[in-house]
Amino acid sequence: MGDAVTMEKIVSLCKRRGFIFPSSEIYGGVGSTYDYGHYGVLLKSNVKSEWWRAMLQDRDDVVALDSAIIQHPRVWEASGHLAGFTDPLVDCRTCKLRFRADHLDQSACGRKPSKHPGDFADCDLTGARDFNLMFETTVGPVKEEGATVYLRPETAQGIFINFKNVLQFSRKKPPFGIAQVGKSFRNEITPGNFVFRTREFEQMEMEFFVPPDEAQKWFEHWLGERERWYVELGIRPDHLRLRAHEQDELSHYSSATSDVEYLFPIGWSELEGIANRGDFDLGAHAAASGEKLEYVDTASGERYVPHVIEPAAGADRATLAFLVDAYDEEQVEGETRTLLRLHPRLAPVKVAVLPLVRKDGQPELAREVYADLRRRMQAEYDEGGSIGRRYRRQDEIGTPWGVTVDHQTLEDRTVTLRDRDSLAQDRIAIDELGDELERRLRAPWTSPKLAAA
Ligand code: GAP
Repeated sequence: MGDAVTMEKIVSLCKRRGFIFPSSEIYGGVGSTYDYGHYGVLLKSNVKSEWWRAMLQDRDDVVALDSAIIQHPRVWEASGHLAGFTDPLVDCRTCKLRFRADHLDQSACGRKPSKHPGDFADCDLTGARDFNLMFETTVGPVKEEGATVYLRPETAQGIFINFKNVLQFSRKKPPFGIAQVGKSFRNEITPGNFVFRTREFEQMEMEFFVPPDEAQKWFEHWLGERERWYVELGIRPDHLRLRAHEQDELSHYSSATSDVEYLFPIGWSELEGIANRGDFDLGAHAAASGEKLEYVDTASGERYVPHVIEPAAGADRATLAFLVDAYDEEQVEGETRTLLRLHPRLAPVKVAVLPLVRKDGQPELAREVYADLRRRMQAEYDEGGSIGRRYRRQDEIGTPWGVTVDHQTLEDRTVTLRDRDSLAQDRIAIDELGDELERRLRAPWTSPKLAAA
């Protein structure tokens, strides 16, 4: 079984099964902007919950934060984003299109036959100008001077400007972290590849504050932790790698960055960045605001500006990677079965309860089973259409288990429990069903695509 996945198949399944749709479709859509439907919301919410679990529940040195999207404009001055968060752009005076100056060899001129910008004799490119990626808006009813604010391009700065607040209430001392999940906005010049790069996206970022001489140790710690997180949630290890940034790739704040990369259908691409930000941000905000952003040990009197290690992930990009890694096709009885082999903890729906036929008391009993299971986990009841069609639908949304109520259930209160991956069907008593599913949900899981490769 080869890897059947392509980006087109993912886009099509997401639309067909209500995960993700192009936004504003009834008005013709807005480029590279997407809305999440029911199953997409459940899947992405599970991705975020697993991230929170890894940050907060599985350790005791990270606390949570939810800061505002619109912050004081001086935040972005101090952070370096107003001056440095730019891409170089060139305009073509002939075809009126705009290109990233550093991506001309990957861009297509608007005219036919397909050529790169600058390749036609009459291409007339301007010099490169820096274009800031932050979205601007105004606060208050009048567009006056001083009313310009920005939609945050990363959640991280909300953490740095709250360093003092958190230090006071959390009773933590370095090494400790502050974690945040939320929307960020970037006026990307070349968005694309579905939800891989959009202008509005969710980040999952954690700033880990450490004594300066421990920075390298914690940088390595977080590289390992973050790679492990993806593997534990089912991403095939051979589709995951760490790649250290070259010196000329580093962001203005970083002394070292490594990306966790995933082998998307578009090739190896960044899934998450882990950066050593040093004392750049706390130092910059302290200088600009006049507030001391440092740690003082009350016992020893020692004071220092902590260094920061930052694992910064994208919730949408991670969701896309989990979808891509899970997508599979196999031949069953002469037909192609399409399914998402998602880790059960990520699957939008954990169990579907299906009466075999819509008569003989089966729907009533199935609804009873469903009412019991939905108290424990995300469950779905479906009685419409043939049993085969209902299974196919559940396979495509990645539901790991299907419970079928049949004529035997009415006699002995047992049901069949179908496994999405192996297609094994076990007979099990209704009374044991909830406990058995919870046991399976807690069990370690690896992708069956690994064994098949
Ligand atoms: N605070 C550091 C920071 O923002 P980044 O590498 O620019 O670093 C972190 O972003 C992560 O956010 C990326 O690895 C990616 O997963 C996600 N991300 C960034 N830009 C994105 C975009 N335009 N669309 C979707 N996800 C994006």
